[in-house]
Amino acid sequence: MLLRPFKRIVVLATFASAEIADKVSDLPHDLAYDFIVVGGGTAGNVVANRLSENPHFNVLVLEAGISNRGIFNDMVPFAPFVADMLQPQFEWNYTTIPQPGLNGRILSYLQACILGGGSSHNEMLYTRGSADDFDRYARLSEDPGWSWNKMLSYFFKNEKWSPPADNHDTRGQFNPAVHSTQGINSVSLGGFQFPEYNSHILQTTKELPEKYGFNIDTNSGHPLGLGWLQSTVGNGMRSSSATSYLAEKFTQRPNLHVLLRAQVSRVLTTGSKTTHTPSFTEVEFRQGTTLYRAKARKEIILSGGGVGTPKILLHSGVGDPNLLSSLGIPLVHNLPSVGKNLTDQPFLSIAFAVTLNNTLDAITQNATLFNEAFAQWNRSHTGPFVVPAPTHISWHRLDANSSILKTHPDPSAGPNTPHIEILLAPGGGGPGSSGTQVGHFVTTSLSMVTPASRGSISINSSDPFSAPLIDTGLLQDEFDIFTVREAIKRAQLFFTAPNWRNVVIGPTQNFDNMTTAEMDTFIRNTAIPSLHLVGSASMTARDAPYGVVNPDLLVKGVTGLRIVDASVIPRIPSAHTQAAIYAFAERGADLIKQHWA
Ligand SMILES: Cc1cc2nc3c(=O)[nH]c(=O)nc-3n(C[C@H](O)[C@H](O)[C@H](O)COP(=O)(O)OP(=O)(O)OC[C@H]3O[C@@H](n4cnc5c(N)ncnc54)[C@H](O)[C@@H]3O)c2cc1C
Ligand SMILES: *[C@@H]1O[C@H](CO)[C@@H](O)[C@H](O)[C@H]1NC(C)=O
Ligand SMILES: *[C@@H]1O[C@H](CO)[C@@H](O)[C@H](O)[C@H]1NC(C)=O
Ligand SMILES: *[C@@H]1O[C@H](CO)[C@@H](O)[C@H](O)[C@H]1NC(C)=O
Ligand SMILES: *[C@@H]1O[C@H](CO)[C@@H](O)[C@H](O)[C@H]1NC(C)=O
Ligand SMILES: *[C@@H]1O[C@H](CO)[C@@H](O)[C@H](O)[C@H]1NC(C)=O
Ligand SMILES: *[C@@H]1O[C@H](CO)[C@@H](O)[C@H](O)[C@H]1NC(C)=O
Ligand SMILES: *[C@@H]1O[C@H](CO)[C@@H](O)[C@H](O)[C@H]1NC(C)=O
Ligand SMILES: *[C@@H]1O[C@H](CO)[C@@H](O)[C@H](O)[C@H]1NC(C)=O
Repeated sequence: MLLRPFKRIVVLATFASAEIADKVSDLPHDLAYDFIVVGGGTAGNVVANRLSENPHFNVLVLEAGISNRGIFNDMVPFAPFVADMLQPQFEWNYTTIPQPGLNGRILSYLQACILGGGSSHNEMLYTRGSADDFDRYARLSEDPGWSWNKMLSYFFKNEKWSPPADNHDTRGQFNPAVHSTQGINSVSLGGFQFPEYNSHILQTTKELPEKYGFNIDTNSGHPLGLGWLQSTVGNGMRSSSATSYLAEKFTQRPNLHVLLRAQVSRVLTTGSKTTHTPSFTEVEFRQGTTLYRAKARKEIILSGGGVGTPKILLHSGVGDPNLLSSLGIPLVHNLPSVGKNLTDQPFLSIAFAVTLNNTLDAITQNATLFNEAFAQWNRSHTGPFVVPAPTHISWHRLDANSSILKTHPDPSAGPNTPHIEILLAPGGGGPGSSGTQVGHFVTTSLSMVTPASRGSISINSSDPFSAPLIDTGLLQDEFDIFTVREAIKRAQLFFTAPNWRNVVIGPTQNFDNMTTAEMDTFIRNTAIPSLHLVGSASMTARDAPYGVVNPDLLVKGVTGLRIVDASVIPRIPSAHTQAAIYAFAERGADLIKQHWA
């Protein structure tokens, strides 16, 4: 989550295409397939693509949303267009329950309802997390296959490292040894430059080497320091799981079927109960006002995302027996961890007014320049609209002598893992500042990336089409609010580097002389969820006393049901989540193919 809209832009066109079905009657095979993937989002489309590489498998994807194809705003990386992809027509329209850690506020909780899921409406930032994060997944699951060294090959299967839109010389801005040009989803460095601003950023890495030292590639597994931002942009356009894994050359496969506007209500067990192990074989979904059932001969793969997947499980009778019986939902399988331990990261932005005059504000505050930039993008997919907005990213640990580390366990995965993220963008906007303020700004977007707080997904109705109860749990643990305070100090520190003298005017929010209590009030009134939720159907070791899936991502204690999406990731990566989810999905698809080989 980043900048607020500067301007509203109209969606130009939306249509489905021949190989993507809009109606049940357009589908072959009488609603019986080897694999049914529930949710054509970030992870689901990876699974569908990889399974349908085997011509003997036929695969159906059921997606509740509309097609991404032909939606102009979905192709333009620039922040105002991204903001327009968050409109209700592409959304589940969820809100949280009142959030105690956020002064009781009720917030919208954006979840994409469109082919490509989050990858069709996210901010495109590409950050993998730390090697420690993945090595912890391996420890928690007791499966070394989830370790960083093993997962690097799955990052590589996903990533198609691409030249930036301006074809600038990228030497010294990334480490080619940790990237792959052979994958499917495009990743690139920013394709439009802000020379004066860039030189201030890089000079600061020299003037503040201890906290803001230059890191040539923050996606190497060792993210600490400041580096050039990488994003899921190729040829100046958004690269999503829908544009990449469901590109026409893939959807033309005769064994890959995608149905839009198909909202799954439940997964079902059928047949006589001859064993104690529930066996899932059918998916119930609604299109328009009609309910259908589709049969999965081999497996059902839930890829509905961190909210959608636990919601479907609960409505299917898989979850905490007390909750299910209170709602009159028959228990199919006792699995109390469903929906628990949800983790998200708190996020807020602080803009600093500057005397620079070549920021994005020059474009967003001037209709003539905005229209010129629009026409340039439309003509050649170049110019300022090829960048989401941030240009650099920095990752920080708390000071080793930090008082909180003496009283609270460190939630980070290891010594090379950041607690704090600070993004830098040459332009104004974002919560905590003002996207509509006139002038030139550098915006710092802060996130506490290793939260100790936990939330949940629950339901309060037996109607599978009712909205779930979303509790982010944000900022309830003292560790987290302490770290956000430190993040604000760290952002202020950036502009104390000598090169900013006479350039920075000051933050749009005055922090001078604020007491800790006042600072906390500001944070609790301003922070919002990063929308990076994971862990709501967590992977744990086979013999763990809690968890929802085993290390092979099969749901514990049942057959025919697997989960491949954000919800299985057992701890939040110290990062934005899409890269980790792509890598999990690539390995998940491999595990399924091995199982059915
Ligand atoms: C506004 C926003 C900005 C973000 N910015 C970034 C960023 O810059 N970088 C980054 O790395 N991460 C970012 N993220 C996070 C990232 O996009 C998500 O973590 C990721 O997309 C989640 O992938 P997923 O496959 O688990 O779920 P999703 O991609 O959400 O896919 C779930 C899919 O399932 C469908 N679905 C759900 N329920 C049902 C049902 N009952 N029936 C049928 N279909 C269903 C949904 O419509 C959706 O298409 C952002 C997220 C948001 C919301
Ligand atoms: C969200 O609201 C919009 C506008 O009302 C609607 O078009 C869309 O279908 C809603 N999303 C869902 C999943 O119901
Ligand atoms: C939540 O995770 C913790 C480990 O971090 C575990 O001890 C606990 O049992 C989990 N809770 C549920 C309900 O799964
Ligand atoms: C922009 O900045 C440059 C150099 O700092 C200066 O020469 C120029 O006059 C400025 N332009 C405006 C419109 O302020
Ligand atoms: C907007 O930009 C154009 C082109 O550079 C310039 O001529 C015009 O004066 C600018 N308008 C304002 C209000 O700054
Ligand atoms: C974008 O390009 C198309 C043709 O490719 C043209 O019809 C349209 O007018 C252009 N829009 C803008 C705003 O330049
Ligand atoms: C931590 O150490 C730094 C010097 O490295 C010092 O400036 C700071 O005051 C110390 N903080 C605490 C809380 O002791
Ligand atoms: C469920 O919770 C929502 C949101 O808090 C509320 O609007 C709704 O009335 C509740 N429904 C029931 C059946 O309690
Ligand atoms: C902060 O406190 C100092 C010392 O009391 C004072 O000089 C300064 O004006 C104060 N700043 C603000 C913004 O109130």
